[in-house]
Formats: sequence, structure tokens, C-alpha cells
Amino acid sequence: MTDRTGIFAGDCPFGIARRWLDEAGEAEINDPNAIALSTVDADGLPDARMVLLKEIEDDAFVFYTNYESAKAQEIDQAGKAAFVMHWKSLRRQIRVRGTVTREDGPQADAYFASRSLKSRLGAWASKQSRPLASRAALMAEVAKVTARHGTNPPRPSFWGGYRINPVQIEFWADGAFRLHDRFMWRRKEGGADWEITRLNP
Ligand SMILES: Cc1cc2nc3c(=O)[nH]c(=O)nc-3n(C[C@H](O)[C@H](O)[C@H](O)COP(=O)(O)O)c2cc1C
Repeated sequence: MTDRTGIFAGDCPFGIARRWLDEAGEAEINDPNAIALSTVDADGLPDARMVLLKEIEDDAFVFYTNYESAKAQEIDQAGKAAFVMHWKSLRRQIRVRGTVTREDGPQADAYFASRSLKSRLGAWASKQSRPLASRAALMAEVAKVTARHGTNPPRPSFWGGYRINPVQIEFWADGAFRLHDRFMWRRKEGGADWEITRLNP
């Protein structure tokens, strides 16, 4: 086994990720749950953007977005994605690569319902990633969906979650003189078990 102690200790990578995110919540100025989500388009050209990680489950990471956005098309086509979270305050990062499925059931309904009314109406109004004539056109669309859906808009069918089931999770922490610590958790073939390897910085 490795000399995996301190912040790297634990039997479950999702537990470690939850712990690090909790610590980041105390230390970061804004959005400790921001992740840089990476996808590839049909030509294999990589793409990246920030989204907010909303749940760390027992076996997966969940975020929410518009199913007609560029990222959604890339994910639906490839079925795979990667992300990195970096906390400047902690000088740590977590990298994840995995397969992706939609979360568009009751869990997505419940999360949508938990958002502020303005955010829910905003989700209805935005044709995310498609051209927009002007800010005024967007505000007119917000007024239109507000008139249509009132104070209790349902979750749009074009908006929901994605669940990333990792095949790899890497935990990285800054070390003196660039001698950082890295631990790679890799799913063993076909199973629920992980192989853990310390990597060179
Ligand atoms: C800190 C931060 C958090 C964001 N969170 C989300 C999010 O949770 N969901 C989302 O769809 N877009 C989010 N965005 C906007 C995305 O970065 C992006 O602009 C948008 O989703 C369109 O991306 P796409 O055209 O590649 O699909 C966030 C942006 C920032 C800077």
C-alpha cells in the first residue's frame, strides 16, 4: 500500500472529495463547488467551461444545465466528460474522468424546485449556447415566461442534471518546491473496487 495519510486518508474517494469540498467551503471567497467541465465535440475538439457541482453521491458527481446547450450535445454524443476542481486557498485540485448519464427524474425536479424563482424563470428563458440578439431580447423572454408560468414554474424538459460516474479520480495537493502529492484512484476492471497509485508530481 501507499503512504496515504492526512488529507489523502480514506477508503472512499467520494468521501475524500466531500471532505475537501467542505474545507474549501470554509476557505474560498466564492463558488467552492465550481468545476471546470471538459467535453469533446464530434470532431474531437476539446471544450471547457465552469459549472457548479451540486451533489457528490456515493458513486457519482452531479451538475445541472440546459440539455440543448453546447456542452449537453457534446456529452450526449460522447457519453464521457472530465472535470477539475481547483482551490487556490487550499492549493489542492481534484481531477475526474468518467462516463455521463442524465439525471432528469424526481431528483432533478427537486433540485429545480429548490432554486430561486428568478433562476427557475431564467432557465426557462435562456436558449443556452445559441445566438441572442440583445440583452433586451433576453429580458423580454423572461417577461414572457414569467407571464406564462407565474410563481411556480415546473422544471423544463430541456433542463436537468448530468451524473458523472468516474473511472479515475486524482487528488493533488501542493508540496514544497513543486514536490506535490498525487494519488490516482482507478476503477478496477468491471468492479466497484479501486486501485490507488501514488504518482510523481
Ligand atoms: C462559476 C461558474 C459557475 C457556472 N455554473 C453553471 C452551471 O452550473 N450550469 C450551467 O449550465 N452553466 C454554468 N455556468 C456557465 C457556463 O460556464 C457556460 O457559460 C454555459 O453553461 C454555456 O456553456 P456551453 O455553451 O459550453 O454549453 C457557470 C459559469 C461560472 C463562471
